[in-house]
Amino acid sequence: MIKKCLFPVAGYGTRFLPATKAMPKEILPIVNKPLVQYGVEEATEAGIHEFGFVTGRGKRALEDHFDISYELENQIAGTGKEELLASIRDLINNNTFAFTRQNEMKGLGHAILTGRNLIGDNPFAVVLADDFCVTDGAKDGVLAQMVHLYNQFRCSIVAIEEVPKEEVHKYGVIAGESMKDGLYRITDMVEKPSADKAPSNLAIIGRYILTPDIFEILERTTPGKNGEIQITDALLEQARTGCVLAYQFKGRRFDCGSIDGFVEATNYVYENIYKKSAK
Ligand code: UTP
Repeated sequence: MIKKCLFPVAGYGTRFLPATKAMPKEILPIVNKPLVQYGVEEATEAGIHEFGFVTGRGKRALEDHFDISYELENQIAGTGKEELLASIRDLINNNTFAFTRQNEMKGLGHAILTGRNLIGDNPFAVVLADDFCVTDGAKDGVLAQMVHLYNQFRCSIVAIEEVPKEEVHKYGVIAGESMKDGLYRITDMVEKPSADKAPSNLAIIGRYILTPDIFEILERTTPGKNGEIQITDALLEQARTGCVLAYQFKGRRFDCGSIDGFVEATNYVYENIYKKSAK
């Protein structure tokens, strides 16, 4: 059973400056809900109810979002606006949220290692909230699809999607043996390769299920691309000594760490989710 989910949210979000100068990128709203809340909702739909956040300086708003705001609730009590807080209130009542800090930005792998004390010796999910995923007609969310696979295979799993060759340099890219439609056993992985060095156009997106032995591997992983401790390097070791699967998920992902992806996601949610629920 996957019971815990880690959100590494310590990054500076420099692509969104000045918006992210005093506010975490993960609090930026897609229409009327922060990115991070969509991520938490996706995880709860996968049966996960314990959340750990690896935060950094200037990220207090994240903790406040997952806490009760008595003054605000008192102010709108008995008005039609109470309903607007129902979704976050429901998350607060039915889940636990724990926070730890990454003091130095040493990369995603280092952020995940920093979350070890929140996870313990359990398999766990990782969500990068700036990769915003919608079902887009699929039955389940991406994490629910991955939890289902984990229950079958019991090893680390990364979500992947095909990206244009000219975009592979933004991602971790895999090579793998096809096991069945949309599922690969990873044989190689390269972090942010140039188009001519990429082993495929199958890019890792921000959804992972990791077995806890990843922490020991991360402890001995040396800084890689850009001088950061890369989760891709640790996963490659796991793939070589054991098994790591790559899963081409059903649904649609928006790269909300980029302005273009963020605007596309906003338009999508406004047209396909918000307007329909407001009717
Ligand atoms: P990114 O590099 O995409 O995010 O990291 P960023 O640094 O926040 O954004 P830009 O590039 O400056 O605009 C991917 C994810 O890993 C987390 C980030 O918060 C983001 O969710 N991360 C990255 C950490 O938590 N710690 C790190 O040291 C690095």
